[in-house]
Amino acid sequence: MKTKETNGNISKVVREAYGKIARGDLPGCGCGCPCSGDSREFAQLLGYSGNELSVIPAEANLALSCGNPTAIAALKEGEIVLDLGSGAGFDCFLAASRVGKTGKVIGVDMTPEMIEKARSLAERDQISNVEFRLGEIENLPVADNCVDVVISNCVINLSQDKERVFREIHRVLKPGGRIAVSDMALTRELPEAAKGSIEAYVGCVAGAVLVEKYRELVDGAGFTDVRLDIRKYPGFPVAGDGSNDNENSVENTIADMLESGLALGDYVVTAYLTARKRPV
Ligand SMILES: C[S@@+](CC[C@H](N)C(=O)[O-])C[C@H]1O[C@@H](n2cnc3c(N)ncnc32)[C@H](O)[C@@H]1O
Repeated sequence: MKTKETNGNISKVVREAYGKIARGDLPGCGCGCPCSGDSREFAQLLGYSGNELSVIPAEANLALSCGNPTAIAALKEGEIVLDLGSGAGFDCFLAASRVGKTGKVIGVDMTPEMIEKARSLAERDQISNVEFRLGEIENLPVADNCVDVVISNCVINLSQDKERVFREIHRVLKPGGRIAVSDMALTRELPEAAKGSIEAYVGCVAGAVLVEKYRELVDGAGFTDVRLDIRKYPGFPVAGDGSNDNENSVENTIADMLESGLALGDYVVTAYLTARKRPV
């Protein structure tokens, strides 16, 4: 097993892994995803409707999500939306269909292959109200006070500086602007060995923080109306679900590091976050 200690530059490892996924060289094995099976079916388990999935390019869905942030974003025509860690553009394309021609969606991702894939899908399907920018969520390539809604799906857990990410979200939102995020969070601390696994980090497990800590991060950045809802992530079994037959999954990689009698889903859940920047 590679450990975080033996890999000094975690962000480089994360970028390389997601680059391989975008190129199709690593069969869809990122953020806790089931690594096999049908990505459309998996998206439906996460709460995307068949209708929603039909209005976006199918190739944008790489089964890397852990929820559906657009379901809690209440997007309106004309709004400016920013998607942190946009991958192949999955939620950006869906958001673009909601904000219409008078609105705009910006996707930011640090992996060049993801940005290229998302741009080529937008060009192929002539979706003109989306723009993809290469950059880091800790250093957003976006001006101050210009975004109505920040969305993100299974990404903030991958950041080593989450405080900075929430400060950046606060900076780019307009006063009164809102956050709608789904992300991995912990309901109990992972054992040390699991926390040190780079595979678990890339798979959106080892970088996840406790739900209470997540709330502190959002409160600490100055947001109001903070709400965190916890749901089971359908990609991970909980104790009693039986064996996991997916040989590539993060669950199998770290199964023997977990406390006896517990499965990964007993530690890791999907957190749905909504919050608002205070109006001036
Ligand atoms: C698990 S995937 C989720 C992709 C997309 N949100 C989805 O649901 O399909 C995580 C994505 O976040 C990007 N990412 C991870 N850390 C990042 C960071 N610090 N800054 C920008 N992008 C990041 C990765 O390149 C990858 O595309």
